[in-house]
Amino acid sequence: MPIRIAVLVSGHSRGSNMQAIIDACRRGEIDGQVVLVIGTRSEAPALQRARESRVHTRVISPRNLSEEEYAQRLLHALEEAKVDLVCLAGYMRLLPAAVVQAYAGRVMNIHPALLPLFGGKGMYGERVHQAVLETGMKVSGCTVHFVDEQYDTGPIIVQRCVPVEEEDTWETLAARVLVQEHQAYVQAVKLFAEGRLRIEGRRVRILPPKS
Ligand code: GRF
Repeated sequence: MPIRIAVLVSGHSRGSNMQAIIDACRRGEIDGQVVLVIGTRSEAPALQRARESRVHTRVISPRNLSEEEYAQRLLHALEEAKVDLVCLAGYMRLLPAAVVQAYAGRVMNIHPALLPLFGGKGMYGERVHQAVLETGMKVSGCTVHFVDEQYDTGPIIVQRCVPVEEEDTWETLAARVLVQEHQAYVQAVKLFAEGRLRIEGRRVRILPPKS
């Protein structure tokens, strides 16, 4: 059975990682289907892209809601869509603990650096890449990880590296990392769909292909 995937995005998300997952499902690389994209704001470019790709979208705004109410609305939408895997892609908030617990081991996120470096609250977009440049790192990359109740700390599934070039600005570095993000996220979701990810403490063991 193909897995049923929901993607969560925030107000300013471009949706390029979401699109990479949708496309990989459609060309059969991932045995799955993106059945729902949930955004926090209707104007999100990612939601517009999802609609253009004829994927079902919903807006669930946390504004004026308690954390509990927001969690309940998310859970209701995910359960109604019979979702197996939740992919955060440019989702800027901490996912409510009730959702993390209900979908333990079934929520992934992508971060544009090599965690556990350059992660945590407030570390997103330009800030991440600027910090990498200021630190003098010679490599950067991206990390796909399972989501726990804190920012960027869950077990790591896939990482990919890129070089930091002498002439890099944060924009050129971000663009080089983004190419790898799309591949890494598709790889992680594909492994999940194949039942090949086993969480053992802080480590994610990648099991051999089933024959
Ligand atoms: C990506 O850089 C991702 O690593 C981070 O947010 C950005 C989302 O980009 N979490 P996009 O919306 O997928 O294009």
